[in-house]
Amino acid sequence: MIVMDQIAAMQALMRQYRREGKTIGFVPTMGYLHEGHTSLIDRARAENDIVVLSVFVNPLQFGPNEDFARYPRDFERDRRIAEQHGVDVLFHPEADEMYPEPLTVRAIVQARADVLCGRSRPGHFDGVATVLMKLFNIVMPDRAYFGMKDAQQVAVVDGLIRDLNFPIELVLVPTVREADGLAKSSRNVYLSPQERSEAPALYAALQAAASAVERGERSAAAIRRMVREHIEAHTHAEIDYVEVCSYPDLTPLETLAGTVLIAVAVRFASARLIDNIMIELPKTGEQGDGKGEQACFARS
Ligand code: PAJ
Repeated sequence: MIVMDQIAAMQALMRQYRREGKTIGFVPTMGYLHEGHTSLIDRARAENDIVVLSVFVNPLQFGPNEDFARYPRDFERDRRIAEQHGVDVLFHPEADEMYPEPLTVRAIVQARADVLCGRSRPGHFDGVATVLMKLFNIVMPDRAYFGMKDAQQVAVVDGLIRDLNFPIELVLVPTVREADGLAKSSRNVYLSPQERSEAPALYAALQAAASAVERGERSAAAIRRMVREHIEAHTHAEIDYVEVCSYPDLTPLETLAGTVLIAVAVRFASARLIDNIMIELPKTGEQGDGKGEQACFARS
């Protein structure tokens, strides 16, 4: 495995691979790798000649009162895990290398950013889009791998790739969970034992909602209420949002139809957690053929 921290050297190496006709799969991360990240790496390993992993805690996507300074970091551990999963190139730049001086140009996400997490994290997706534009230009991948755990991020990246014509295929990977259903996250280490024992209630609430949809519930208000009540009954967390929206447009829905995202975010005293599920339903006006009426569940 080659470890790189310089942009120019990285671009030269990537050009070399491209000249050799190799396909490049890219997994961008902020490190502190867990099985969610390694499922992205494994998928990229299976589909490309060269796998590039970036580990960079991007200051631009953290708000002033967020956890940038204390975001968990352990590069030696990340390096070992990357090597074990067959990463070819690990890109680990310092913040000074990525942002040597204040930016003269940055991305502003116009749509899909003013709902869900975007509402309580203003500027977050601008920071994500800006660093990804840089990383895409540095790595020049054929495919980029993202987790459905951050469904809104995937929707934003989908828009970024289309609007700016990056010749990159976006590959979505289902959410990897602990045995009790909690979505794996670098931030789970912040949870107190009590919070950790309550946290699986997020996914349990989403599953209860999915069962209701399977039984025929199509009212977004009823689904939102059900998810809220479950979380309130089983945790001490403060609910940030429970939303039912279309995917990938992220338009809030009144009646469930088409590709539906049910997403939650809660604040425990020590960490903010998010989770979601996606459900495929017939589009409004489409004839149900009995089979089509069955909700079909994505594996996230
Ligand atoms: P980070 O939070 O490190 O996540 C990196 C990638 O891993 C994202 O695509 C995320 O959706 C995916 N991921 C995290 N937990 C997962 C899980 N439990 N199952 C499946 N995939 C999971 O997301 C970021 O970093 C940053 O915003 C980044 C895109 C790197 C830009 O800075």
